[in-house]
Amino acid sequence: MDKSGAGPAQPISTLLEEKRRFPPPGGFSHQANIHDPAVYERARQDPDSFWEGFARELIWHRPWHQVLQWDPPHAQWFLGGHTNLSHNCLDRHLPHRADKPALLWEGEPGDSRSLTYGELHQEVCRFANLLTDLGVGKGDRVSLYMPLIPEAVIAMLACARIGAVHNVVFSGFSPEALQERINNAGSRILVTVDGAYRRGQLLELKEATDKVLADCPSVEKVVVVRRAGKGAPMTPGRDLWWDEGVAGVSTQCPSTPLDSEDMLFILYTSGTTGKPKGVVHTTGGYMVGVYATTRWVLDMKEDDVYWCTADIGWITGHSYVVYGPLLCGATTVIYEGAPDYHARDRMWRIIEKYHVSVFYTAPTVVRAAISWGREWLHERDLSSLRLLGSVGEPINPEAWMWYWEKVGGGRCPIVDTWWQTETGMIMLTPLPGLTELKPGSATLPFPGVEAEVVDEQGQPLPHGQGGYLVVTRPWPAMLRTIYGNPKRYIQAYWNRFPGIYFTGDSARKDEDGYIWVLGRADDVLNIAGHRLSTMEVESALVAHPAVAEAAAIGRSHPIKGEVLVCFVTVKVGTDGPVNLEAPLKDYISDKISPIARPDQIVFTAELPKTQSGKIMRRLLRDIAEGRAVGDVSTLSDPSTILTLQEKYKGAA
Ligand code: PRX
Repeated sequence: MDKSGAGPAQPISTLLEEKRRFPPPGGFSHQANIHDPAVYERARQDPDSFWEGFARELIWHRPWHQVLQWDPPHAQWFLGGHTNLSHNCLDRHLPHRADKPALLWEGEPGDSRSLTYGELHQEVCRFANLLTDLGVGKGDRVSLYMPLIPEAVIAMLACARIGAVHNVVFSGFSPEALQERINNAGSRILVTVDGAYRRGQLLELKEATDKVLADCPSVEKVVVVRRAGKGAPMTPGRDLWWDEGVAGVSTQCPSTPLDSEDMLFILYTSGTTGKPKGVVHTTGGYMVGVYATTRWVLDMKEDDVYWCTADIGWITGHSYVVYGPLLCGATTVIYEGAPDYHARDRMWRIIEKYHVSVFYTAPTVVRAAISWGREWLHERDLSSLRLLGSVGEPINPEAWMWYWEKVGGGRCPIVDTWWQTETGMIMLTPLPGLTELKPGSATLPFPGVEAEVVDEQGQPLPHGQGGYLVVTRPWPAMLRTIYGNPKRYIQAYWNRFPGIYFTGDSARKDEDGYIWVLGRADDVLNIAGHRLSTMEVESALVAHPAVAEAAAIGRSHPIKGEVLVCFVTVKVGTDGPVNLEAPLKDYISDKISPIARPDQIVFTAELPKTQSGKIMRRLLRDIAEGRAVGDVSTLSDPSTILTLQEKYKGAA
């Protein structure tokens, strides 16, 4: 953490203080799935029984004989138990909910489809049978490279049904990124589409895969969904159309009982070296962790219409678009396209149209909506909403307030949920019927989860001091390894503090024990010996009425160690660069401290982001240092970099 390497780290200075408090809105608590504060203590005293309670609500083909076996850093959960996630998401509901909508899908052009639990079950069985006919068996890897369409969900559930391991690759990734992931996973099957819609453009995914398939020797068959109806080049013997493949195939396919520790999926995520890590999740523990958190955090009820805006290419799409809501028997809305297509009210229209009651999105989406202006909400009826969620990055208090007032109308709790691809499930979070909210804090560990903020030696820090966020007890949905690289699993997560999970994030606890996640540990600035979190500077900037989005980074400086450089996007209709630079610098000095006064502010129309919307500060650091930019394979729009380099030169 101390980049200078000069002795022990100093605590991170936290200079922003958020005083606002929001207890659960009237009426929410008594209807919430959980409103008894004793759960925290109960879970602390006997975590195994706590998790077991949720496991018992699900179907097991054979009961477990032991809840947890912990040989650090290797955990096994529900040992000896046999179950099937697809069975729990589908078959478990058929007696009562066969005719209830499971999926409500809307395509970007405006087409739509609805599938009941009964219909989804049939489609999943048919595709599972097709996979079996193609020779796929338990443990075989199946890669998916497709947009958010019902077939993507069907394919995931079909894999889970027969014990095949899905490896979803975000459809916005390049063919080269796909190739790397297919080869690392050794996938036998690839499922893709003829075309996908994104912001009105048609992306030819099958053509894209054809560019790299010659270099993916493990792939035996490619199944192609006719999404766009435009056709695609098909290689005889290797490629088949989904609809032709499943035609006439039986809609019955009993689920395969799987061992609790059988691999469920691999999902690649970026690591510090830039080389993606194949995070491995297994069956029983993941199912229980995701089910528990969907019930208690997203307060999911059978009659909820729930919309999470994540793509299935990310962990949020796995845990809380597909598995969590279906485990709870709710209706999950999935939307294929961009949130501002055809117009900037698309999200609010979807909420209005489907009467969405629980809405889960990312701070980047909230900030984009703020920059588009509140007029897009005016005519929309959002009264069906009862609960809001946030995930993916720290949510700046001002963005939180906007979300609370403008979207939630002041009646919906906001669950700011901190977790990771590796954790599989929500880890730090309010319980919406119980927790008093503080804008910008993910509040407390979920019951049964134990997290701490520690110093370089792994010692818990006093409240108020920033340090590393760690998890001190295993949890059911934790990753089990990095696919094909068990050493990296240990190095990345367990070497720093033996027996304790290292999240790579920095955080502080406040006087109430609430945790404030400050960002990745390497997003920490060191200015004249003061450690500052980039997040705090960004939050302060975003609170300025003219600023839509901001990224703060450190640039090395011979005297001060680092100076602060801020990249800022202004709101539509605001007067940018000329008038704003000096006022914004003063504003930050004022709001945080003169120590945090930016050395430079660069105004830009776009910030470089990953496909999932995270700002890539590492690239901004490269630009600010005037060096060649590092790995850009996960960048959503590579042209941003050139524009920024130009701007930066101009501004320097
Ligand atoms: O830095 C934290 C940030 O996102 C990282 C995990 O990213 P990923 O594996 O892509 O998973 C994202 C969806 C779970 C974390 O290490 N992060 C995620 N949620 C929050 C957050 N930072 C602050 N507050 C959050 N609520």
